[in-house]
Amino acid sequence: AAAGQPPLDRSAVKVIAHRGSSAALPEHTAEAYRRAIEEGADGLECDVRLTADGQLVCVHDRTVRRTSDGRGTVSAMTLAQLSELDFGSWKSPEDPRPASVLTLAQLLELVADAGRRVELAIETKHPTRYAGRTEAELLRLLDRYGLLPKEGSAEGSEDPAGSPVRIMSFSELSLHRVRRAAPALPTVYLLERRLPVLGRTRALPGGARIAGPGIELVRRDPGLVAALRRAGHRVHVWTVDEPADVELCLELGVEALITNRPAQVLAQLGR
Ligand code: G3P
Ligand code: CA
Repeated sequence: AAAGQPPLDRSAVKVIAHRGSSAALPEHTAEAYRRAIEEGADGLECDVRLTADGQLVCVHDRTVRRTSDGRGTVSAMTLAQLSELDFGSWKSPEDPRPASVLTLAQLLELVADAGRRVELAIETKHPTRYAGRTEAELLRLLDRYGLLPKEGSAEGSEDPAGSPVRIMSFSELSLHRVRRAAPALPTVYLLERRLPVLGRTRALPGGARIAGPGIELVRRDPGLVAALRRAGHRVHVWTVDEPADVELCLELGVEALITNRPAQVLAQLGR
């Protein structure tokens, strides 16, 4: 474990379902998220994009090509246009499972109906396009569902059991916007390569509270996690699907594992 920080309890490591239970089912569909909740995931990861008519939908790519039967750029399409497409059947054409595009509001409903605490790690994609409208709509929705922690409350503290929602981004600008508008909402700075500033200062880019390196970076540079933890940061790693990577993350003191295979990772953790 990193100096100055106690080793993390294996049973306390969080398992976050990346795009739902997405190895088994089409990513970002209600079915994939319901499955992850049934499997016992501690939380759900999703990517959000703003449609041409200002709705947040859970879609990873810039276009709908890979994950639907249509063509087009998400940000140039209306929710009505996206709703005409099938976002499920691409995954296993031999056993098609038609599914509608999932809105963030529908995902928040699904979490509200889960009957237990389910965390949400929401990633803003291409947030520069709409000059802050993505973040504004995101915070408006979270507020509507009572998910915005109040400044100074336990939820808004650094306590991992605090806010059930955190906002992640590769974009420093997007994290800054969230931080300015909702200072108590935890944010995760996603990184794919080492940045020289990390480890030497307490502050992460965008004012983030949590660092989110990719597993390839962690494999290549395990010292990074120790350095981040020494600097007082919590570390969430994506996308951790291989048993050896789960073990590596446990050794390094990673707090949350973001995985396409929540059931398998939970089993490995003995849960
Ligand atoms: O959880 C963060 C991770 O999802 C970032 O990469 O491309 O899968 O959104 P990507
Ligand atoms: Ca993502």
